[in-house]
Amino acid sequence: MSKTLRINKYLAQLGIASRRKADELLAQGRVSINGEVIKQHGVQVDIDQDEVEVDGVVVGKPNRKKHYYALYKPKNVVTTISDPEKRPCVGDLIKTFDTHVFPVGRLDFDAEGLLLLTNDGEASNRMLHPTYHVEKTYRVKVKGVPSKETMAKLAKGIKLDDGFIKPSFVKLEKILKENSWITMTITEGRKHLVKRIWLRLDHPVIRLVRTEFGPIKLLDLKPGEVRKLTPKEIQKIQSIGA
Ligand code: URA
Repeated sequence: MSKTLRINKYLAQLGIASRRKADELLAQGRVSINGEVIKQHGVQVDIDQDEVEVDGVVVGKPNRKKHYYALYKPKNVVTTISDPEKRPCVGDLIKTFDTHVFPVGRLDFDAEGLLLLTNDGEASNRMLHPTYHVEKTYRVKVKGVPSKETMAKLAKGIKLDDGFIKPSFVKLEKILKENSWITMTITEGRKHLVKRIWLRLDHPVIRLVRTEFGPIKLLDLKPGEVRKLTPKEIQKIQSIGA
């Protein structure tokens, strides 16, 4: 007998969204089962038979081949496969793909750099789950030049409105005339975290580039470019939390 699951629980298990977020996706008419838009979260999915799509991307076919890509998300692009407001989105950059993949987490509209794309919901879930403390490294251009004291304070950890944050690495990399480049690594995925850290330290972020996500590096990708992950990189991603 096939196994069935409520649609919101199914999306949560695939790592597409939390159950609450899944309910929002449903309410927004962004989820379909076998081509039919579904709005009620109580609808059951046959996990062996049904084809579930979010924003037109197939997310839940059993035993389908897994695909993994690294994309350099340019600045001013939304991290979604489609955008109801018609802003440039990640989906536009992978239009020619014949495989359906979705972004692993998010980068702000005005942030840029490494974004992973996959249809492997479990791996995506693990990369984003707080339990696994997956490191994310950013090159950050901030206004002004942080003092030694500021750098030391941040290295020890600071308090933000939603709690304490201590980067696992932070270094003042380069001092320009009026701004500075910082390299920093964090393991949390709280909203606008890097921007909020630097705003708190009175050095607003001017540019934010993610260069590493867990075992994957941006390498020499240019804005808008995509590369397939190597078998070694895929193996590293799959072994997170294993
Ligand atoms: N921190 C931010 O402020 N924005 C991002 O997009 C990622 C981390």
